[in-house]
Amino acid sequence: MIAAEQQRMAASRILENCMADDLSAEVAVARLAVLTAEINAAKLADVALEMRTKAYHCRGWLEDVAALLSANTGAFDSLRATAASICHDRQDSETAEMTVRRLASGFDQAVVISPAASVQLSSLGDEEKLSATTAEIASWLERQGFTGEDKTILDIGCGIGRFECALSARAKRIVGIDISYGMIAATRRRCAGLGNVEFRQTSGLDLGEVADERFDGVLAVDIFPYLVIAGVAERHFSEIARLLRPGGMAAILNYSYRMSPAADSADIRNFANACSMDIVIDGATPFRRWDGTVFLIRRTGGT
Ligand SMILES: C[S@@+](CC[C@H](N)C(=O)[O-])C[C@H]1O[C@@H](n2cnc3c(N)ncnc32)[C@H](O)[C@@H]1O
Repeated sequence: MIAAEQQRMAASRILENCMADDLSAEVAVARLAVLTAEINAAKLADVALEMRTKAYHCRGWLEDVAALLSANTGAFDSLRATAASICHDRQDSETAEMTVRRLASGFDQAVVISPAASVQLSSLGDEEKLSATTAEIASWLERQGFTGEDKTILDIGCGIGRFECALSARAKRIVGIDISYGMIAATRRRCAGLGNVEFRQTSGLDLGEVADERFDGVLAVDIFPYLVIAGVAERHFSEIARLLRPGGMAAILNYSYRMSPAADSADIRNFANACSMDIVIDGATPFRRWDGTVFLIRRTGGT
């Protein structure tokens, strides 16, 4: 089979899976950007439209996918370039330090191409779409009692600072840490003028930069997958347990990109048991605008 036909078949499989999981058209476009390489946006739009005859019940959704792909082909190319900046594989010979350094330089590049897509690919690089998803996640955090005027929050892998902006009025103080110099610079610009947020560059190997502080909440949105890749997830988990005040919560949104919910839940359960933490939410997918998987873990003690 020729390569172009293989790519078209791969694209239809991606779309079928997204339809089966009831995912948004934006998530489907993001997956197409990552998982297909040699087929352009116009041809991908054709694939989506051709699928309407077989998947008649999803024709509106397939037309939305096609419309997103056709609306701005330059934006789709930039989405692909953003995704391609960050390699999710780890070479056998790579140490944790080397992996973290490689990821930091990938995110330095990604944030220059598209700040919004560099932190959430399914924003498709659109700041308004990103803000809508961020607002949905921020409201969810509020409903869990994660935020509050008396709460101090550590945001690991803060990226461009979208959660600091969204949560600063709902927290006493927020400390954002990230390995990427470019991300920290973007975050400082975005959050200029917010008096209760601060940012630090971290080694990415542990939480040494905040070792002497205690927090009511630790936020980790789409960051654990990179800790898993670098082999430092367990170390981070036990440090999070130590940095949390009794009763404090860690919100881990996406644990890995292994596509195995059972393996992710098992890892979180093992870490939580080892650190005497309770799992409050185990692998739920509560968001309408984003396909992130949620784990909410509470340090025992407190009220
Ligand atoms: C997909 S982005 C998510 C950013 C942010 N949490 C958000 O949702 O907007 C992942 C971020 O994690 C950072 N990162 C990757 N590995 C890290 C590590 N070991 N320690 C701290 N930050 C890390 C990257 O530089 C990047 O800013």
